[in-house]
Amino acid sequence: MKLTLHVWRQPGPDAEGRFETYQVPDVDEHMSFLEMLDVVNERLIEEGKEPIAFEHDCREGICGACGCLINGRPHGRTRLSATCQLHMRHFKDGEELTIEPMRAKGFPVLRDLIVDRSALDRIVQAGGYISARTGSVPDANVILVPKLDADWSMDAAACIGCGACVAACPNASAMLFVAAKVSHLGLLPQGQPERYERVQRMLAQHDAEGFGYCSNHGACTEVCPKDISLDFIAKLNRDLMSASLRSRVQED
Ligand code: SF4
Ligand code: FES
Repeated sequence: MKLTLHVWRQPGPDAEGRFETYQVPDVDEHMSFLEMLDVVNERLIEEGKEPIAFEHDCREGICGACGCLINGRPHGRTRLSATCQLHMRHFKDGEELTIEPMRAKGFPVLRDLIVDRSALDRIVQAGGYISARTGSVPDANVILVPKLDADWSMDAAACIGCGACVAACPNASAMLFVAAKVSHLGLLPQGQPERYERVQRMLAQHDAEGFGYCSNHGACTEVCPKDISLDFIAKLNRDLMSASLRSRVQED
């Protein structure tokens, strides 16, 4: 099939960016989206031009490294898949695609389709850990965890930190990401000692990084490749309220 790509090209963080148009006349429907970009890049290199910079690692929907806006939607049009899992059979011959970085105030563009998502790492560093000694595997196995809590925690742990939720949100909020990270620890017994401090510290870092507030649009969960539910944001808000009440009681 033949495609026309309008790709955002920006040589560096402070450089001016612009869309460049590329004709791709021989796209195989079995290619992944990133393989299609590889083919475009091979041609650009042969012509002595700069290849399109884009992030990727596992190419299996595991690492969260990939991600761009395809016709305005983070990770493209198929639900529950990262950009690397998107296949060209989902496109039609003759289509025009606009490919942009996942822009947000907290995600400055580094080059072409690559944005700096280290703000998400700093949010995790602020509280997304447990410091309680958990012992070895046999010790962990003697602590009984209700099945529903274990399942819910595993659902939250599926977040790969891709940042699509931020790019889709009209407020550029990273609340779905924070909610997933808060919940996957806060639902387990080992995560209880720091549960309330964790939510306060991670949200303070979220705000400091320039992400906006959640206004329950739900665009985040629509584009999330791991189907992280808005229910986790509701849980985060409950934990935050409990944390505030506990702080007040301690102050009194
Ligand atoms: S919540 Fe979903 S969209 Fe957001 S970072 Fe995690 S996996 Fe990506
Ligand atoms: S490259 Fe790892 S999730 Fe896409």
